[in-house]
Amino acid sequence: MPVNLQGRSFLKLLDFTTEEIEYLLDLSKEFKKLKLTRTPHKYLDGKNIALLFEKTSTRTRCSFEVAGYDLGMGVTYLEPGSSQMGHKESIEDTAKVLGRYYDGIEYRGFSQDLVQELSDNAGVPVWNGLTDEFHPTQMLADILTIEENFDSIKGLNLTFMGDARNNVANSLMVISAKLGINFTACGPKELMPSEELVSICKEIALTNNSNIVLTDDPIIGATNADIIYTDIWVSMGEPSEVWSSRIHLLEKFRVTKELMDLGSDNCIFLHCLPSFHDINTVVGKNINKEFGINEMEVTDEVFRSKYSKVFDQAENRMHTIKAVMYATLK
Ligand code: CP
Ligand code: NVA
Repeated sequence: MPVNLQGRSFLKLLDFTTEEIEYLLDLSKEFKKLKLTRTPHKYLDGKNIALLFEKTSTRTRCSFEVAGYDLGMGVTYLEPGSSQMGHKESIEDTAKVLGRYYDGIEYRGFSQDLVQELSDNAGVPVWNGLTDEFHPTQMLADILTIEENFDSIKGLNLTFMGDARNNVANSLMVISAKLGINFTACGPKELMPSEELVSICKEIALTNNSNIVLTDDPIIGATNADIIYTDIWVSMGEPSEVWSSRIHLLEKFRVTKELMDLGSDNCIFLHCLPSFHDINTVVGKNINKEFGINEMEVTDEVFRSKYSKVFDQAENRMHTIKAVMYATLK
């Protein structure tokens, strides 16, 4: 049966079949070609979208904006704290109002329940631009980047190093299971994905001939990995007091050249960004002053190496987000 995502929200990858995810990836490749050949594609001319951000963003916000303009749409950006939502107006009422003005709504915020509630009440597609639990649009860009670097993705070994229960790690585990990629969550026991999500993903992985492994040994995690992926150690919305314990727990999972060398011959490095690979940021400088480290989740050497595909990955956010909006709004 042909895939049809018209009118669907994009809240988490668990809601989508393998075929639907592959369809979105194929569509992303088409949109990337159109963009790179400067071929106009205002296929959604006359529609309007709202971008609702309760946390900060560079890539996600800019990708939605540029993709929206490229598709011919009007775009409204609502920055954190700038709408009535949450303070003076319930999620339900906000969704019902925005649904009257807009054809689609992007939401970045806190719990997954909030984005679900928006979607339940808006009457138009809602796209999850990151919650505490999941970051599904990121994964499409990640897989597109992996596809650009390997002949086939089935059976590849993807290792996530670090805070293995954060939104990015959770989503990577889900998409790996759906697409037949072997996934290793490599981090301290205290920061492992929930047993419930692991068991759901193991079941899905089984049907796609792949597996899910958890380990707290970075040597095991890196050995024979085709993709080593990491993310910041403290996510948006977490209190700054946790830095000290995170550094203590996660230092041995920093992605170094030594770990990359344990990967397969064609091993690549991925990171959703932003990254603390040096101290050229306010947070990086503060951490350096307080804890004496100048690189966190990845060394500057790996981040800038030829194995690092992080800027292709960032570019691919835009092509994949365009595909999601087009597929659900066309
Ligand atoms: N990777 C990502 O979502 O980046 P932003 O926080 O800048 O949107
Ligand atoms: N885990 C990170 C991802 C940022 C794109 C965060 O939630 O802050």
